[in-house]
Parts: sequence; structure tokens; C-alpha cells
Amino acid sequence: MTRVFSGIQPTGDLHLGNHLGALVNWVGFQDRADCVYCVVDLHAITSPAEHDPATLRERTLETATLLLAVGVDPARSILFVQSHLHEHAECTWLFNCVSGFGELRKMPQFKEKSEGKGETVSVGLFDYPVLQAADILLYHADEVPVGEDQRHHIELARDIGQRFNHRFGEVFTLPRAIHPPAAARVMDLQEPTSKMSKSTSTDKGIVNLLDDPARIERKIKSAVTDSATDIRFDRDAKPGISNLLEVLSAATGRSIEELIAEHDGHGYGAFKAAVAEAVIELLRPIQTRYRELASDVGEVERTLADGAARARAIAAPTLARAKDAVGLLPPA
Ligand code: AMP
Ligand code: TRP
Repeated sequence: MTRVFSGIQPTGDLHLGNHLGALVNWVGFQDRADCVYCVVDLHAITSPAEHDPATLRERTLETATLLLAVGVDPARSILFVQSHLHEHAECTWLFNCVSGFGELRKMPQFKEKSEGKGETVSVGLFDYPVLQAADILLYHADEVPVGEDQRHHIELARDIGQRFNHRFGEVFTLPRAIHPPAAARVMDLQEPTSKMSKSTSTDKGIVNLLDDPARIERKIKSAVTDSATDIRFDRDAKPGISNLLEVLSAATGRSIEELIAEHDGHGYGAFKAAVAEAVIELLRPIQTRYRELASDVGEVERTLADGAARARAIAAPTLARAKDAVGLLPPA
């Protein structure tokens, strides 16, 4: 069976864009692939902004709980926390020794994040994509579903795997990035020409998966639209209305044409109310499930411990083969 691997940083506060752009697909892959999903907390500590340790711990648990709430199913898939396996950090070291300074320096995400930071930028940030390569290659992943911005990182993982195999013998499966169509590309409610994003949107521009119904309604009703009254899909001329149409379509499973036929001519107010209602109903079962799970932290922790054990059953033998191939003397 195809093996899918993906990772998400424990930033907590996942939003509607993450859900309709990525998580809906994560849940869907479980029907056709053997899925391994990871909360990448070791990646989270590479951020140039200093993190708060207590917050990181909380958010790691919250992110894992949200993944379970949206439908990552531990009976079918492996869900684990990256730092629970020492294999990821250890494999990163092996890969560091076959990675070039030059190729890492060219990574667009590193360039962007280290911009203006001069000599203070951490080695961890520089090494971020090598750790990501270890995540992927330890599990013999065939497909790695990610946003377009991660394309270079997956190509690097492929290059590292190929180089390692060439030098030391076939150990790793070469992965490929996949960009499955999103249920929706969700734009910022206040600035509908930019993506809804946790790093650039204001709170009013974002629907968080755990926002309560009143808050969701308030945010969608105050979404920026245009000064006309017609409801039609035109990303350039009517970015706000088009965004709401796409969200409504993804939330209800109905076509944009059908939604336009139903709502055009009845005004923006009624249309926004319908969108708010649909988003509230889309998120309601996720929020209910989240509250159930969060009320029994012990159970979530047991699920993650079980996930870590199953992840280790794949990663540890891969790492052992890699160490042997490199020529590291096994302990007697
Ligand atoms: P990020 O947290 O921005 O790295 O995104 C994590 C995942 O969510 C990636 O697969 C993104 O492509 C997806 N994603 C993030 N924001 C949006 C959005 N506004 N619309 C659709 N997908 C998104
Ligand atoms: N770098 C990815 C992101 O920011 C997260 C990530 C870490 C990841 N390890 C991974 C994604 C392995 C896919 C596979 O979105």
C-alpha cells in the first residue's frame, strides 16, 4: 500500500484554511493509503522568535487533539509527536553528513526566515529541511502531501535519500510531494486578496477551528466584500464574495453555480448569514469531539504513546540499516 507521511507544526490555533486546504485531505488519504502523521515539535523550536516552553508543550497536545478531532483515526493511521522518537534527530545527523552547505543555504524558506538576522540565525533553522528529510525517509514514505511552499524541502529529501543510497546502498525510498486539490483556498476575511494565514492575518480575518459559533458568525458577517449587491464568482472583481462562495461550497458540498442561483438577488446580509451557519455546522462536530478528547488528556496521551511505539517499529529498523550502511560499529 502507498505510504503517506505528513507533518504539521504545533502552533495550535489551526484555522479554516488549514482544515479545508490540508486536513480534509489528511483524513481522506486514510481510505487509500497507509498514513503516518506527525506533530513536528522539533521543527517548532527552530523558529527565530524565542518560544515559550510551557506554550510549546500545550500547543503540541492541542494540535494532536485537533488532528484526532478532525478525523485522523488512530485505528487506521499512526499519529505521533516527533520528539517522542530520538530516531528523527539521530537520522538528521547521518543526513547532515551527506548534505551540502550550499544546497541548504539556497532553500527559499531559510532565506526568507533568516533575512536580516545576520550571524545570529540558528544552526537549527539552517538544518530544518534536513530534519524534515529524516521525518519522511525514516518511514519509506511514497507520497508527502504538503502546500506548494514545501516543494523544495521534499525535493531536498529526495536528493538526500538518493545520495545516501548511491553512496552506501539502497536504504531509503525516494518520496514525492503531492499537492492534492484543496477543498478550498481560503482567503483572509478582512483582506480577501491574501490567504488566510496564522502568520499574516489578523484575528478578525481568520476563523479558528475552535472559535465559538457567536465569534464565527461575527467574523463572517463583518467579512470585507464589495459595494455592489450581486452574488457571483469573480476572484478579481469580487474577491470577498468569491471567497465566501468557495467556503460555502466546501462546507456544504454544493456547487458554486447552485449556490449563486440560490443566493443572488437576496443581498449580502442573508448570504453571509448562510455562510456563517454552514461554517458553524461544519465545525460543530469537530469542536464537540475536541471537547470530549480534551476532557480526557490521559487518553490522548495514551493514543500518542501508542502512535510513537508504532512509528518506532518502522523508524528504528530503518535507522539501524542506515547506521550499518554508513559503517558505524553496532554495540556488542
Ligand atoms: P501552514 O500552517 O501555513 O504551513 O499550512 C499548513 C497547511 O495548510 C498547508 O498544507 C497549507 O497549504 C494549508 N493552508 C494554510 N493556509 C491555507 C489557506 N488559507 N487556504 C488553504 N489551505 C491553506
Ligand atoms: N515543514 C513543514 C511545514 O512547515 C512541516 C513538516 C515537518 C513536514 N516535517 C515534515 C511536512 C515532513 C511533510 C513531511 O508545513
